[in-house]
Amino acid sequence: MTQGMGYVDPAYLDAAARLAAGGKRLSYERMRISPGATVLDVGCGPGTDTRALAEIVGAGGFVHGIDHDREMVEEAERRAAAEGLAGRVEHRQGDAYALPFADATFDAVRSERLFLHLDRPDRATAEMVRVTKPGGRVVVADTDWGTRSVDTPEVEAERKIARVLAEHCLANGYSGRRLYGLMRGAGVRDLAVDLIPLHVDGYELWRLLSRMEMAFEEAVRTGAMTEDEVRRLDDSFRDRDAAGTFFASTTVVMVSGTKP
Ligand SMILES: C[S@@+](CC[C@H](N)C(=O)[O-])C[C@H]1O[C@@H](n2cnc3c(N)ncnc32)[C@H](O)[C@@H]1O
Repeated sequence: MTQGMGYVDPAYLDAAARLAAGGKRLSYERMRISPGATVLDVGCGPGTDTRALAEIVGAGGFVHGIDHDREMVEEAERRAAAEGLAGRVEHRQGDAYALPFADATFDAVRSERLFLHLDRPDRATAEMVRVTKPGGRVVVADTDWGTRSVDTPEVEAERKIARVLAEHCLANGYSGRRLYGLMRGAGVRDLAVDLIPLHVDGYELWRLLSRMEMAFEEAVRTGAMTEDEVRRLDDSFRDRDAAGTFFASTTVVMVSGTKP
């Protein structure tokens, strides 16, 4: 695929997965799956969740993963094979806007941090609902990048960079806060919302996870911040880090419900 803005690689996703482990487990609970279930993960990346789901559905169930990035799919297949799960999980290249499955195929369908890459999240939601069986579960989770917040004396600049991240570095950076409306609009019933706070206490990891290099470049390129503002903000983060007081947080929004 074209590695456009917002592209992430498996190493990035591994770091994010370690931070998001609790939220991932909660999403499996919200799917309410048991051994024998057939489930789908849309935007599966390198298969962190498909492999975990394979353990839950067991030998009598099956897990499908879809991602539009061929390299992610290949990595997911490699990892599943290495864990002896090849017969219980299948990863395929496919598009969230046109899922390659018949109506009412799955007991549960999930996506995590997919919608922030989508400019038509409503189409992807409709597709997820279409392939879910009546009475099946739909679970979507996304970070709200507008909730990126870092302790710094450069308060104005810190707010500006949060907006640059949400508005210029991703197709749909405020995705998290929009999931509830999307799921309601798609007719999903009995909606439940979970808010999952994440925090990071080191600038190196935050820099990676928040794609600060891209954000700083975009801030200057779009005129949202001056080079001097960016430098002072970056310096303030480094100072906090050196003092052992760097602190950043963000919130993941998870919305789950039942297809009527
Ligand atoms: C931030 S990653 C999250 C991966 C995984 N869900 C996780 O939590 O580790 C987003 C994934 O969505 C995939 N993706 C983006 N747009 C897509 C689309 N239109 N259809 C299918 N996959 C897509 C990307 O290739 C990437 O692997």
